[in-house]
Amino acid sequence: MLSILVLHGPNLNLLGLREPGVYGSVTLDEINNQLTQKAETLGVKVSVLQSNHEGVIVDAIHAAIGQHQGILINAGAYTHTSVAIRDALAGVAIPTVEVHLSNIYRREAFRHHSYIAPVAIGQISGFGAESYRLGLLALVEFLNKTP
Ligand code: DQA
Repeated sequence: MLSILVLHGPNLNLLGLREPGVYGSVTLDEINNQLTQKAETLGVKVSVLQSNHEGVIVDAIHAAIGQHQGILINAGAYTHTSVAIRDALAGVAIPTVEVHLSNIYRREAFRHHSYIAPVAIGQISGFGAESYRLGLLALVEFLNKTP
């Protein structure tokens, strides 16, 4: 069975409380529950990690080698700053889909650049909690088509 690593970056543990006008009122636990349910219907397994620490995310990406066939990542603010997370994703070469709750291109200019996008299959941005579900679907369809 395909195994997908779901990575949530900094401040996403505050979902529900955090800027609800931007990120909605859904909590991270609710998002993770929805992903686990969706994974069941797709016949895949998901493992979830949230961290506020860049190095923990880098370590988790390294540890995915041989364990997970795909990565779904919302790197939060590290999207716009972290060469280390980008290099880790490039280094392990595990197919990755980048997701964001908000549409980062409608927001401040500093959010318009993603270090992760060039090493990802693609990006889903702006659909709130649905971005994760759509991202999982896109990733699993990609993996199922890849020999
Ligand atoms: C975010 C967008 C980022 O710019 C921001 O720093 C976040 C959340 C999103 O999901 O919309 O923490 O990744």
